[in-house]
Amino acid sequence: MPNSIIIENKINKFNKVINISGDKSLSIRWVLLSSLADGVSKARNLLISDDVLSALKTIKKLGIKSKIKKNECKIYGKGFEGYNYKKKITINAGNSGTLSRLILGLLVNASKPIKLIGDKSLSKRDFTRISNPLSKFGAKFNLNKNKNLPLIMHGTSDLRPIKYIEDKGSAQCKSSVIFAGMRSKGTTYIRAKKSRNHTELLCKYLNLPVTVKKGKKYDEIKVRKVKSIKPLNYNIPSDISSSAFFLVLTALSKRSQLKIKNININPSRIGIIRILKKMGIIINLINQRYYKGEKIADIKIKSPKFIKSINCPTYLNSGAIDEFLIIFLVAAKAKGISYFKDLSELNQKESPRLKWGVKILNEMGIKTIATKDSIRIFGNPDLKIKKKIIIKNYLKDHRVFMTSVIAALSFGGKWQIHDKNSIKTSFPNFLKILKELKN
Ligand code: S3P
Repeated sequence: MPNSIIIENKINKFNKVINISGDKSLSIRWVLLSSLADGVSKARNLLISDDVLSALKTIKKLGIKSKIKKNECKIYGKGFEGYNYKKKITINAGNSGTLSRLILGLLVNASKPIKLIGDKSLSKRDFTRISNPLSKFGAKFNLNKNKNLPLIMHGTSDLRPIKYIEDKGSAQCKSSVIFAGMRSKGTTYIRAKKSRNHTELLCKYLNLPVTVKKGKKYDEIKVRKVKSIKPLNYNIPSDISSSAFFLVLTALSKRSQLKIKNININPSRIGIIRILKKMGIIINLINQRYYKGEKIADIKIKSPKFIKSINCPTYLNSGAIDEFLIIFLVAAKAKGISYFKDLSELNQKESPRLKWGVKILNEMGIKTIATKDSIRIFGNPDLKIKKKIIIKNYLKDHRVFMTSVIAALSFGGKWQIHDKNSIKTSFPNFLKILKELKN
């Protein structure tokens, strides 16, 4: 089985400094905004993964060239109205929820129908969360019978601004509507439950007419029509969601230490750090600085003596939304019962992740009590796995694969984990970095 990996040994103690690849959310947003800029934009440390390559292929279909050379990517934007709709276009977003949702917002004014397709996982995901608000702008949609992909969007040049309440805490929905608002005359009003705010920060840096009034649980966002976007040169900071696997590996190992450099610690993304700290793990954010509105730091973490269970407050959910699978492993080793709730969005990801969390934990011999949006995890600080565990048929969800690898290296047992190639979507050098820790 060439595309599966077998792990039979726990990792030995380590003390290392590592670098992680570029942030996925920022990489995709950089590609999309640069594709509409007046001229050439350059990025360093762009994440070169399948999701970002799908974004580059998408803009190519729209007539926008890009070039990757060593660690630099250039995009040759032709202006805010520079997309070419001469041919009928099919966009293949691959596995990427972010690309598929954001590009629909940018194409809401397309003069030709846009067909959107994706892989098996993306094709199962809900697109009414995008077609509903974009329909209010005036676009028309043909969704397949399960309300997902493939879909066809008929854009319109006669866009009307909308008032929209985003109450799932989805940055993809919020960003898609911001992008559509940038195409539309008048003012679009968005009341959005807190979620990652990279789109808003990029718009602010680019001086685009997008304003944000921050509230405690919701932000009020106003968007007006954009006339032009200046080129965007950007050094993409590294991805906290990818770092999370190594933070947790350190937290679950004995007498180990890790420093991860140049990580985007945007406050809307550091739920994992807040949660791990509450569980008694010592983490230091050093060398903190700002870069074009984003907060960056090096992260230092040490293996703890013991791990405390957590009743995870729901205000931390959105900032850790991609990290819960890996956080569940920490709860598996905690003393006591951990409780995570209000997590229905977890089952809207690349795979139904709450279900996969339960499955992996139960395979490991950890008791759980789960509902459709919550999980109680009965931790065992002495957990040692002796049996064979096979992980397969998980819709090739990259985070299921990486979580299983970390579980194997932390708790022992013999693991056979299928679909190794899934890491290509977000973190192609995940296994290479693990090797660095083993040397
Ligand atoms: C993302 C938003 C989140 C996250 C995804 C990336 C983004 O999805 O899970 O991995 O870049 O905007 P939702 O918007 O569906 O919560």
